Amino acid sequence: MSGRYLIRTFGCQMNEHDSERIAGLLEGEGYGPAQEPAEAEVVVLNTCAIRENADNRLYGALGHLKPLKDANPRLRIVVAGCLAQKDRGLIQRKAPWVDVVVGTHALAGLVELIRSAEREGPQMDVREFTEVFPSALPAHRGSSSHAWVSVSVGCDNACTFCIVPLVRGPQRSRPLGDVLSEVQGLALRGVVEVTLLGQNVNTYGRDLTVPGSGRRARFGALLRAVGAVEGIRRVRFTSPHPHDFTDDVITAMAETGAVCEHIHFPMQSGSDRVLRLMRRSYRADRYLGWLDRIRAAVPGVSVTTDIIVGFPGETEQDFSDTLRVTEEAAFDAAFTFQYSPRPGTAAASFEAPIPKDVVQERFDRLVSLQERISLERNELMVGGTFEVLIEGEGRKGNLKGRTRTNKLVHAAGDSAPGTFTQVRVLAAHPHHLDGELVEVGERRPVPATA
Ligand code: 5AD
Ligand code: SF4
Repeated sequence: MSGRYLIRTFGCQMNEHDSERIAGLLEGEGYGPAQEPAEAEVVVLNTCAIRENADNRLYGALGHLKPLKDANPRLRIVVAGCLAQKDRGLIQRKAPWVDVVVGTHALAGLVELIRSAEREGPQMDVREFTEVFPSALPAHRGSSSHAWVSVSVGCDNACTFCIVPLVRGPQRSRPLGDVLSEVQGLALRGVVEVTLLGQNVNTYGRDLTVPGSGRRARFGALLRAVGAVEGIRRVRFTSPHPHDFTDDVITAMAETGAVCEHIHFPMQSGSDRVLRLMRRSYRADRYLGWLDRIRAAVPGVSVTTDIIVGFPGETEQDFSDTLRVTEEAAFDAAFTFQYSPRPGTAAASFEAPIPKDVVQERFDRLVSLQERISLERNELMVGGTFEVLIEGEGRKGNLKGRTRTNKLVHAAGDSAPGTFTQVRVLAAHPHHLDGELVEVGERRPVPATA
């Protein structure tokens, strides 16, 4: 097989990670990247099922591809990701021009499925369990200095709004040795920053026993081990469940120099009543207490969160609790979502859905509150100088990069992607900082063979 491929990725970092694997598998077969669907022999839609409209977006995108497929029967259309896992046969019933439906546990067989589709027509593989971790597959990575590393897949929680446990299954962790050898290999190729990925990343290892020791591998130990890999200067992770953010994880964060001072800490709601309905085990006071502990142990840590607005039955009082706790928590940034019922989840059958205009109005209030808080947090950085890892070119010819606290920085100056620089912050905005390069550090040499 040869020709060109195009991948469209919807959804979360786990999907970005999987898309890098899909690209790696296709490049291993001799495919090269295409810029547009019309140039491609293989088009992959890597889908997300977590929020509303995912279905509409998928079928919309498939509708656009149909004329291309009619004109070029050699075009192979692949649907991957969570919606593939969830909708299975429905996809090819609704869009019979789809050649391959490949679920989240079956990526390793993608090339074989495309080959079979060429010989035998439409194929589908949506098995229930992961046998080959996607991270173990070859990757074509979007960045040479950063890599996503999956440490676990699936989730054992049952938050009532969330479809993840239904489509990604129970948690399965990757053996510590496998994670470490991948990170070591990445470091040898010049990667300096890794983000450890898991749906519930801090319960890493609960389903594993370390052979011979009788002890379970734990997330704190993983952080320390990854942080000790030579050449890795920044370790990030996402997303933890607050409930599982235990003291040993906080201590590991504080004591491991490479682990960045940033934590994504999904709150979901500030109302105890709604948290109970969501089946989130903590309450607002406990959540704020955890934040205090983390901030005391990791000075300068930035905190981001996820908040859902308009959960079934959410009253104005519940929502004002969310506003109050958001204010108290002083998040650096928040991802705010309007609740959308996901078929098959517990909350989808809850009574008292909130009218759309009420949800929108609450959502707007929360977003403007958070914008003010984000700006205030960012203003605290003006005048300071911070380490920024350059990612590439940003707006107006400026450089773009991130601080250890995961703040996006646009900086005037000249430097190559993958370089650690020192940037003086000149101005703050809610979603980014402006600055100037005051010092260009070293860039790790990348072996020619990488
Ligand atoms: N509706 C709205 N937001 C949701 N999320 C997950 N499921 C839903 C849903 N049904 C949000 C949560 C989660 C983030 C990844 O997506 O806030 O933390
Ligand atoms: Fe979904 Fe996260 Fe809850 Fe798991 S912990 S059910 S992935 S929201």
